[in-house]
Amino acid sequence: MHNTLQNDLDNLDYLLSLTKDKAAAYLTEINEKPVSINNVQVTIPINLPENGIGLEDTLKAFYEQHQDKIVASSGPRYWGFVTGGTTPAAIAGDWLSAVFDQNPQGINGAGDVSANIEIQTISWLIQLFGLPSYFKGGFVTGATMSNFTCLAVARQWAGKQKGIDIAREGIKTEIKILTATPHSSAIKSLAMLGLGSSNIITIKTVQGNREAMDTADLATKLRENKDFPVIVISSGGTLNTVDFDDMQAIADLQKRYPFYWHIDAAFGAFAACSEKYSHLLDGWQFADSITIDCHKWLNIPYDSAIYLVHEKHAALQLQTFQNSNAPYLGDPATDFSFLNFGPENSRRLRALPAWFALQAYGRNGFRWIVENNITLANQFAQLLEQKTIFKLTAPTRLNVVCFTIEGEENKSSKLASVLEKLKASGKLFISPTAYKGTPCLRAALVNWRTTEEDILIAIDELIKAS
Ligand SMILES: Cc1ncc(COP(=O)(O)O)c(C=O)c1O
Repeated sequence: MHNTLQNDLDNLDYLLSLTKDKAAAYLTEINEKPVSINNVQVTIPINLPENGIGLEDTLKAFYEQHQDKIVASSGPRYWGFVTGGTTPAAIAGDWLSAVFDQNPQGINGAGDVSANIEIQTISWLIQLFGLPSYFKGGFVTGATMSNFTCLAVARQWAGKQKGIDIAREGIKTEIKILTATPHSSAIKSLAMLGLGSSNIITIKTVQGNREAMDTADLATKLRENKDFPVIVISSGGTLNTVDFDDMQAIADLQKRYPFYWHIDAAFGAFAACSEKYSHLLDGWQFADSITIDCHKWLNIPYDSAIYLVHEKHAALQLQTFQNSNAPYLGDPATDFSFLNFGPENSRRLRALPAWFALQAYGRNGFRWIVENNITLANQFAQLLEQKTIFKLTAPTRLNVVCFTIEGEENKSSKLASVLEKLKASGKLFISPTAYKGTPCLRAALVNWRTTEEDILIAIDELIKAS
């Protein structure tokens, strides 16, 4: 064996302990670590090393070069985008996923247990969300890929309505996409699927300060497009106000009009973990497919999401994703394999961190995380309102708060300067956004570590930056 590899192998125990100690030190100090840094300039070594230096010195080199530039995006005050943290059990599962280095494929074919672990984890998640067992699913990298996967099945369904197998023949029919406030990743998926990102018929939103779909307008547009195959993309939690489409009303429309119904519930799905909020999703069990992210509110490390597709579409899903010319991968028609049901042929054992987290914290643990974040988001919103320099720009429905600086509405330059100052202090990370055309700031709370103290620190930082 190569000398350096042999040396690392001989010292594996010591080297992994060293890595573990570095990781534990980082996680212990995460509350104090900056959530942003001003200057991300990285000095990249120019030449690829001819001779490697082994793991111990590599660890040193990494820490010398990059340690001070790693921001605490899994810490309690990183409220930008929708970024969950990493629970201890999820980290352990993720590490072991690398150690075992499995590629979950089939139940029988690959001769290992990883596909079964994935099936078990999906079943636990379905139970966590109170969904029926007729949903079958798998793990992908994120909600974007989940939307892509589900909409690929939708596309196949649409072709079938006109007697076309789109996976084989290409898109030879006009397909109508109806949606109200889709996430950008759903639009991106339409682009990737050749359905066209601008081929959307926009459904009105409910009157008032709402982002949810007006189902009366949906009914009108379904009637107008009854001669075409229709895909409806609905929101189980919009990005800015976590508004939910009326799932039951959409389910009722399915009895009158044939359409494929996909729900993007990337993080809104977690409302189902709490009896206080699960009504927001009433009726979602009738969807054809659902997208849910795990690296958001499940607090699983990047990258992790699931797609759930009603089992009645299994044949369409297989037509879309099968490897039909690879006998070494088994027979798609008879041997179940994840690689014939999703976009990726090779994947890590992405289910393992979720398996660990669900086993370790159970239904109650996740109910607590969800309810805690919602309570804290509402406290944050109330405190902002009490400080007269801030103004909420949208209702706080769940765990996301959109706000601006009083008197500075529509002034994105002022908001940009606030974000610059926050970046310099490194204590709070939030995102810029626009709600109904008005620029504002947005805080999304999904981290298990966030406490009331963090809310107070955030308010303090915002006052200083404004
Ligand atoms: C509603 C919704 N859908 C999809 C996505 C895309 O998720 P990902 O970045 O995991 O692909 C997000 C991300 O914030 C989201 O909020």
